[in-house]
Amino acid sequence: MKEKYYITTPIYYPSANPHIGHTYCTVNTDALARFKRMTGHEVFFLTGTDEHGQKIERKAEEAGCTPQEYADRITEGFKRLWELMDVSNDGFIRTTDKRHMECVQLVFRKLYEQGDIYKSEYSGHYCAQCEAFWTETQLKEAGGVCPDCGRKTELAREEAYFLRVSKYAPRLIEHIRQNPDFIQPVSRANEMLNNFLLPGCEDLCVTRSTFKWGVPVPFDEKHVIYVWVDALVNYLSAIGYGTDDDSLYKKFWPADVHIVGKEIIRFHTIIWPIMLMALGLPLPKRIYGHGWLLFDGDKMSKSKGNVVDPFILVERYGVDAIRYFLLSEFPFGNDGNFDNATLITRINSDLANDLGNLLSRTVAMVGKYRGGVLPAPGEAVPDEDEPVLELLRGLCPAMEKAMDEIHPHIALAQIRRLIGACNKYIDVTAPWVLAKDEAKKARLDTVLYNLAEALRVVAVAIEPFMPNTTPRILEQLGVEDDALKTYDSIKEFGGMRPGTELRKGEALFPRIDPKAEMEFLDNMVEEQRRKAAAMRAAEEAKEAGEKPEPEAAPAPEAAPTPEAAPAEAEKEQKPIITYDDFAKLDLRVGRVIDCVEVKKSKHLYNITLELGSERRTVLSSIKDWVSPSDIIGRNVVMVYNLAPRKMCGIESQGMILAASTEGDGDVVPLTTLKDIPSGSLIR
Ligand code: ME8
Repeated sequence: MKEKYYITTPIYYPSANPHIGHTYCTVNTDALARFKRMTGHEVFFLTGTDEHGQKIERKAEEAGCTPQEYADRITEGFKRLWELMDVSNDGFIRTTDKRHMECVQLVFRKLYEQGDIYKSEYSGHYCAQCEAFWTETQLKEAGGVCPDCGRKTELAREEAYFLRVSKYAPRLIEHIRQNPDFIQPVSRANEMLNNFLLPGCEDLCVTRSTFKWGVPVPFDEKHVIYVWVDALVNYLSAIGYGTDDDSLYKKFWPADVHIVGKEIIRFHTIIWPIMLMALGLPLPKRIYGHGWLLFDGDKMSKSKGNVVDPFILVERYGVDAIRYFLLSEFPFGNDGNFDNATLITRINSDLANDLGNLLSRTVAMVGKYRGGVLPAPGEAVPDEDEPVLELLRGLCPAMEKAMDEIHPHIALAQIRRLIGACNKYIDVTAPWVLAKDEAKKARLDTVLYNLAEALRVVAVAIEPFMPNTTPRILEQLGVEDDALKTYDSIKEFGGMRPGTELRKGEALFPRIDPKAEMEFLDNMVEEQRRKAAAMRAAEEAKEAGEKPEPEAAPAPEAAPTPEAAPAEAEKEQKPIITYDDFAKLDLRVGRVIDCVEVKKSKHLYNITLELGSERRTVLSSIKDWVSPSDIIGRNVVMVYNLAPRKMCGIESQGMILAASTEGDGDVVPLTTLKDIPSGSLIR
């Protein structure tokens, strides 16, 4: 019987279109799933979307549609992307699927009935107007009022349901200690133990009653189930747990590995196992926390406009080139930096030169020296042949080990080494010299045979990583027999049959023009940054209370066509003013004595300025470019007589000035050339 293998990605929030970070995780998981299938496992590979919660509810409201309509649209984009990327998932679960919601309710009811979920009270500062609870810190940061509307809050209690995390924590600590493979990379296990479990865990509030978009508590419909409890159950609901047909569940549970990003490993290694322990179910065998893809060293964020769009890249460079880049360039457990120059280099050097040329040279040489027909191997020269043969012998065990350890980049590196060794083999053996000497015929036959056989092995081994490339290589090698396309067939040297006709085909990966491509990619980034700046401006206007333009839900697929550049409008010259006009401005030097994030805002800082003996609060939307430590203690230029205005419930008493560049959207607050007492006038 085949060994089973159940592997999952996180289920992604359909709050915005999928980007290269989601693609990175899903493509790596796909390579692992494909490899396990290829090596004879019965695989269930699950992905999906996590559609409930206040964030989606709000997004839908902004877009003027229902949460379901919003989630439908974006989820469609995720599905389209996975199809485009040749992702071979066996299941796609949506948390709005009936089967999933019923399963969540079943789990919740069971835990409640056995006393592991209990009803209690959640207490905090409550704003009746906004129907929201706020924590001490949130309230303090907003100056003691509701961070949303600025009204007074009252201390209130609300009934809510709690999961007995504290009851199961000791068992979980033991489990983590006894099973070193449970949380990987291992550094993440230490982090979970030392930072969360060992200091002690409180019970977790697992319901919300301040919004509606969620799975209702089955016996108390005022409450919806906390989105993380809802989401984690997907790994069971997708395989039919608790239903009449639970054959998939019986076959596949427990999961062999949940692949997740490092920021959500806590939910998967604490809450999820505790839920499973309470349900009396086996725990997943492994949870692997992969690193983040950064862009030019910076965290990708829609508001910064540095989110890489996989649709555009695939359209330009092809699926397998992008898969290759994502799979080979970034060690999976670490953060990695996506930069356009490296993408171009990899396509040209690894794919066009190393792999593409190896194939075209081999096929061309068999064509030129043997009329296109593969010869049987003749004379061996171990010193020359051995580096290639040794890599061929070691390839399968090395790949299996790497894939078992969830290191797809290492498995792929083995294939690259083999490709490199073959290219070197051509240089060392110089077939064009052998071809000139009739006495070297048998030697040339061996060289040609070994190259074709190595390429067959590469073609088969590379399938989990670049599934479209496999048939294209095999086609040129003239391999038609399915038996020569299996993983088993590459474990032994010598599958290629002498007499096979090789066929010259198109270049696997045509070289791209680095200069033109850099220009294309840089323009794309600049364009996105401009769009993001425009979006930020619209959001700020909204925060300032201006009538918002309804924001359309993003199309499921980002449109590659550029929008009109808003920066152009800003550049227009303003009318000439008189000195009197200028004199109306009261500009002063303020010293920043504090700078904290406004919790309810994506872009605002709450900055406390000292102006002589006076203190002022100024809200400023520079969060994307400046960190508090950059400006605390520095002088800034402040418009002192700007009419106060309220944003996010806080009154901003002025404005600080900043310079901004057009192209990359950098924003830099103005300061004084040398220190000067705060409150000094600027004229
Ligand atoms: O957290 N680099 O969904 P999400 C690498 N719904 N991976 C990235 C990435 C980046 N820059 N950005 C996103 C959620 N990811 C929950 C999960 S599971 C029961 C619920 C990947 O849409 C990475 O795998 O925020 C990360 O963990 C996941 O997308 C988060 O997706």
